[in-house]
Amino acid sequence: MKKLVKKAISSMEKAYAPYSNFNVGAALLDDKGQIHCGVNVENAAFPCGTCAEQSAISKMIFSGGKHIIKIAVAGKGKILCTPCGACRQRIREFGSKETEIIICNEEGVEKIFTIEDLLPQNFGPDNLN
Ligand code: THU
Repeated sequence: MKKLVKKAISSMEKAYAPYSNFNVGAALLDDKGQIHCGVNVENAAFPCGTCAEQSAISKMIFSGGKHIIKIAVAGKGKILCTPCGACRQRIREFGSKETEIIICNEEGVEKIFTIEDLLPQNFGPDNLN
């Protein structure tokens, strides 16, 4: 199994998801060759919870990374753990046409998408230039 996928899967156990019981792990490779992992962090005040992709992206920005080359997202079960709408937009901000979004479960890769697959006709930084 590839390193990024392994990291997303092993991150799942670190999630704080006592309300949904749905642990999510994310691992992204940035333009500097660094890997950043994240997990979902829920809250008793439900809307305050954060997603795994969101925390991995925050780490990338803090570490000086600017671009997502690949991101692996892991959640349990047979139904694909595809990023939520807000996280699709977050990945769009730092990704490109070539960015791979690798969806995994506990056993490994299930499917690979592009941003255009998950967020067609998207709005991004170019719209503001
Ligand atoms: N979740 C993520 O971390 N990423 C996604 O893109 C989909 C959903 C989390 C949020 C919440 O803690 C749990 O999964 C159930 O929705």
